[in-house]
Amino acid sequence: MSPSTLTLNNGHQIPWMGFGTGSALFGRDATKLVVQAIQSGVTHLDGAQIYNNEDSLGLAIKESGKPRAELFITTKLKPPSAGQTVDVKASLKESLRKLQLDHVDLYLIHSPYPANTEGKLQDIWKQMEEVHEAGLATSIGVSNFRVEDLQDILKIAKVIPAVNQVELHPYVWDTARQIVEFDKQHGIRTASYGGLTPIVRAPGGPLDPVLETIRKRLEETRGSPVSTGQALTKWLLHKDAVVITTTTKASRIKEFQDTENVPELDEKEIQAIDDAGSKKHHRAFMHVVFGETR
Ligand SMILES: NC(=O)c1ccc[n+]([C@@H]2O[C@H](COP(=O)([O-])OP(=O)(O)OC[C@H]3O[C@@H](n4cnc5c(N)ncnc54)[C@H](OP(=O)(O)O)[C@@H]3O)[C@@H](O)[C@H]2O)c1
Repeated sequence: MSPSTLTLNNGHQIPWMGFGTGSALFGRDATKLVVQAIQSGVTHLDGAQIYNNEDSLGLAIKESGKPRAELFITTKLKPPSAGQTVDVKASLKESLRKLQLDHVDLYLIHSPYPANTEGKLQDIWKQMEEVHEAGLATSIGVSNFRVEDLQDILKIAKVIPAVNQVELHPYVWDTARQIVEFDKQHGIRTASYGGLTPIVRAPGGPLDPVLETIRKRLEETRGSPVSTGQALTKWLLHKDAVVITTTTKASRIKEFQDTENVPELDEKEIQAIDDAGSKKHHRAFMHVVFGETR
């Protein structure tokens, strides 16, 4: 069964679950695991120039034999070094060559930094609009944008970003909440990454007992197993987010997709996760953008 989709502000559909070729696969050949993901029913693949493995993503797409029209492919503009000029079109064309595609479904500015400190974000967004207009990217968006970065490009935007992909889980909810709310107010779809951080990268925190209670309730209601990962992913879906994850295991892909079938959280459960999350702060990625140290 294909995963359900969410609607973007331009009417295009995006599968709620995306399989990423960064983090665990950063700089590594992603072919085998992407083929496994596609064979397990994943249709949304999240790449980036900086992951340095777009060629293996392209190879996997080809090897999978899945028709292009049934896949949703994202890549992201590599953040320039300080002072470096960006040529968005040349950069995307190079990605398309590696991916063996004539267009991507979504092209994101990977990070506002350092362009935001150099007053260059608006120029980069105008160039993003040009590649969209040229048909090289069906949708365009941003990643790791804070409210002030979004406000900056919205001053000149003819095309509102379709997506803002940010780290999102209860242990960054204190700072991410305002971004998620701003995204919603402006019709920008929030996409989450690092969503499993509270159980994978920061276990033993205040969320653990809350999540376990909710997991048990969901399991009793459904009458079949529910994992803590699924309970956490359900929280992301209640925030209306697209969920980008990754795994080496086909079984975990099935478990992830099955989150759709897990009963809904109630208002009290969502609030309990928000509250427990706000007792601990743990950012796993992109500290520089948020002015945080590790
Ligand atoms: N835009 C950005 O700046 C940015 C930054 C970071 C990531 N991303 C994107 O988001 C994608 C996903 O990133 P993520 O790694 O942060 O996703 P995640 O969903 O937070 O974590 C996935 C990792 O958790 C492990 N895992 C899953 N369930 C587990 C469990 N129950 N117990 C222990 N480990 C478990 C998986 O390993 P197994 O192989 O063992 O399942 C996998 O390595 C990346 O590949 C990338 O495409 C984007």
